[in-house]
Amino acid sequence: MKNYFLKILALAFLTVTLANAQKVNTKESIQEQKIQSLIKKMTLQEKVGLLHANSKFYVSGVKRLGIPEWALSDGPHGVRAEINHHDWAYAGWTNDSSTCFPPGTALAASWNPKLAYERGIVLGEEARYRKKDVLLGPAINIIRSPLCGRNFEYMSEDPLLISAMAVPYIKALQSKDVAASVKHWLANNQEDHRMSVDVTMSERALREIYLPGFKASITEGGAYTVMAAYNKFRGDWCSENEYLDREILRKEFGFKGVLMTDWDAAHSTVKAALTGLDLEMGTDKKDYDEWYFANPLIKAVEEGKVPMSVVDEKVANILRVMMKTKVLGDKSREKGIMNTPEHQKAAYNSAAEAAVLLQNNENLLPLDFDKLKSVAVIGDNATRKHCGGGLSSEIKTLYEITPLEAIQKKFGNSVAINFAQGYNKQSIFKEGDNIGQSNTDKVDWKLIDEAVEAARKSDVAIIFGGLNHDFDSESFDRQHMRLPYGQETLIREVAKVNPNTVVVIIAGSPLELGGIVNRVSTIIWTWYGGMEAGNAVADLLSGKVNPSGKLPFTLPVSIEQSPAHALGNFPGRNQKVNYEEDVLVGYRWFETKKIAPQFPFGYGLSYTNFELDALSTDKNTYSKDEIIRIKFSVKNTGKLYGAEVAQLYVSDPVCSVLRPTKELKAFQKVFLQPGEVKTVELNVKVSDLAFYDETKKDWNVAAGDFVFQLGNSSRDIFKALKITVK
Ligand code: BGC
Repeated sequence: MKNYFLKILALAFLTVTLANAQKVNTKESIQEQKIQSLIKKMTLQEKVGLLHANSKFYVSGVKRLGIPEWALSDGPHGVRAEINHHDWAYAGWTNDSSTCFPPGTALAASWNPKLAYERGIVLGEEARYRKKDVLLGPAINIIRSPLCGRNFEYMSEDPLLISAMAVPYIKALQSKDVAASVKHWLANNQEDHRMSVDVTMSERALREIYLPGFKASITEGGAYTVMAAYNKFRGDWCSENEYLDREILRKEFGFKGVLMTDWDAAHSTVKAALTGLDLEMGTDKKDYDEWYFANPLIKAVEEGKVPMSVVDEKVANILRVMMKTKVLGDKSREKGIMNTPEHQKAAYNSAAEAAVLLQNNENLLPLDFDKLKSVAVIGDNATRKHCGGGLSSEIKTLYEITPLEAIQKKFGNSVAINFAQGYNKQSIFKEGDNIGQSNTDKVDWKLIDEAVEAARKSDVAIIFGGLNHDFDSESFDRQHMRLPYGQETLIREVAKVNPNTVVVIIAGSPLELGGIVNRVSTIIWTWYGGMEAGNAVADLLSGKVNPSGKLPFTLPVSIEQSPAHALGNFPGRNQKVNYEEDVLVGYRWFETKKIAPQFPFGYGLSYTNFELDALSTDKNTYSKDEIIRIKFSVKNTGKLYGAEVAQLYVSDPVCSVLRPTKELKAFQKVFLQPGEVKTVELNVKVSDLAFYDETKKDWNVAAGDFVFQLGNSSRDIFKALKITVK
């Protein structure tokens, strides 16, 4: 009898699943039929009109067929203000101020995919409110060098962490009927000569490090569009790269969406058309008809150099994305909403969960503002607003709370706040040229003396330092990894007179901290915190929020420790760069070469303590198609509520190729009350233990032993166990 019921249940389940699958299939085939019938009605001119921009961020539609103009907009951490149609100046609208999130590295530092989802929802709602169809993000290139100008927009040096953030971000954004544009495809890991550099790397590095984030974004996140990078890859421009664009993106990943250029990244008509580019965006050529994918494409079709079927394929890709995002007259399309309290709360959450407590040797943090009489707030970053910088990701935010404003507002009634400038921003932003960063190491003793005075008469001194978008920006790389503007001297002098000195680092990419780690007991890294930066930082300092972020990249002692620099191949020579460090990017290099960084990947403290224990797997031996079910416990052994990020690293000690000593395979952020213990279960597919075998041209899980290591950073391992793959 029981069996009978089970069978009925199984049958019913199967029927529902099949019916659902059929519904999806029918919907898709109806969509494809519509696409084909629209294409049949179009002239060649109309088709080509859909394949290039008609202004900085718009693409013409075909009015008579009900295809509206397509609106694209930057960027990854907020909807950018409206730009003039035909030049780069802002249009001066008064209703386009938006929510500004902390940029990519801060998102990844939260190690919380739920925040990526929350962000995607907000971006989608605001993009729709602004009547945008495509949002140009997320930006997911690997942080290969500490000096890359766009590190702050990117997320991590680790492909698994990137994928874990990108997938929910894209799903959420697209659930609001806005297409994501995953960028920059591929290997845009430096800004130096980004428009001309030719990147080479091994097939293994490509597969293991540089592709996984894009693959996950497309195959799991379902990203509707992809942006081809400026640079070349193995000799061919990314926007006309047969291997990347046809073989990998379309054939392997099954991408059915739109491949667009970065702004002014097209280089040909016929080659780009044949290798799979769909949409040309952003050149400065005034006459849009002259663009590669405008009149020259019409001519190429007429001369038989590009078959009509190829043009139709591109138009179909565009119409498909339009349909999926309900552009073609679907009344149920998301209307959108801007600047709600929920949106601002999401920006706050993201800033609060991103902060990484690097050291708290004397337990100076959290500060008890009820007991403090005076606090010195020092440094340019205490008052600087950052949302409006960084170039294409700059945001005209509705507001931005600075740290000084928040501290004054929250504690200024009972605590004397003594502000001192401390150091001046000596740099100048100059698009495309990092020359504005030169000679910015002057020590200003007058400002330091004032800061020392403020610190001397205060119970606590908080120095807000780090970088700003004169350093962290698209279009150039940094010249060095040091703290600019004489900040080390400032910190040293302040710490001399006030042992209760806290350093708050605001920056989006690695900095050399050797000059300060032994001079102050307390350092917290809070990134560019978006519009709610100040509120989040004040709450972190007071302990209202317990820091729970972890470094999404390694902080080297010096730039020479970092793999690309140790090997002398950043930014390359004669516009060529070979990624010689291969798969040993970031912590993979430091761990394998046994180099101790200043602070490791995955590292971050809390105001409470945690214990990771009882690591086990469901079996000892697995076959290659199985899933490893891993269990362990996380306990909050301290006195405050907080969160720990449990990280599982794997090593393959005996292998035919050199494998990194540690590779992140799974992680989970666990929130715990004091004394609370939770059991965490994580799954890792045996196939995910594979390396890319260049001899077989395929993934290979070699039979043998693998070691799972459970830690709260890539260096702090609590438990390890061995499993065997048959
Ligand atoms: C950037 C892209 C951006 C585009 C449009 C380019 O310079 O590389 O990330 O989306 O401009 O502003």
